[in-house]
Amino acid sequence: MRVFYHRIVLVLASLSAAVVIAACSQSVEEPVEEPAAPAESEAPLRTELDPVERGRLLIHGGGCHDCHTTKNPDGTPDMTQMLGGHPQDIIITAPFQPREGEPWFVATNATLTAWSGPWGVSFAPNLTSDPTGLNLTQRNFVIALKTGAHLGTARPILPPMPWTEYRNLPDEDLEAMWSYLQSIPPIANRVPEPLPPAAQ
Ligand code: HEC
Repeated sequence: MRVFYHRIVLVLASLSAAVVIAACSQSVEEPVEEPAAPAESEAPLRTELDPVERGRLLIHGGGCHDCHTTKNPDGTPDMTQMLGGHPQDIIITAPFQPREGEPWFVATNATLTAWSGPWGVSFAPNLTSDPTGLNLTQRNFVIALKTGAHLGTARPILPPMPWTEYRNLPDEDLEAMWSYLQSIPPIANRVPEPLPPAAQ
């Protein structure tokens, strides 16, 4: 009974608060219109930051090092080879073939830079500005991440590159990522072309 009573008091108290708020807002002659919140994908992140710094945050937060930076023996990203892609001296010649009846679908190597699955083997490319890298223009970088077309114009980008997620970012954020990639030390590392799926 006591609990019940308290509830009623609480309800009344919040009702009267609402009435007070309503009364206050009535006295304002020109109600300030709430600006409509922009859709998430349209609002660039941290616009107060310069593009290179914003790009750095987006690259880190976007998990790009997971696949595009080779790893130290303890599994941490090897920042001396930052975003240089799959190391050219780790040679992979054939896709992983899961045994019949096993649940495994995708395999990766110790550096998490080569990925084998039903699409064959994909190698995380070198994102730095070195001549051995992808050397995408800013425009083609944005188009590639928005449309999933390799180099912005060619074959579909293979898994596990999560471009279907990154495409939700506004162009300004993708452009900022590109600007950051231009600013980091170039890494000389020629990443191999993808391998086709194993013949069935
Ligand atoms: C889960 C692993 C993974 C993550 C995370 C990842 N990538 Fe990739 N990325 C790849 C692989 C593998 C390829 C190569 C795909 C291919 O050959 O088609 C690739 C390809 C690319 C390409 C080349 C597109 C083209 O034109 O072929 C760009 C640019 C790129 N990634 C940028 C990024 C950026 C920026 C991030 C972080 C915001 C990122 N990637 C995160 C695995 C990943």
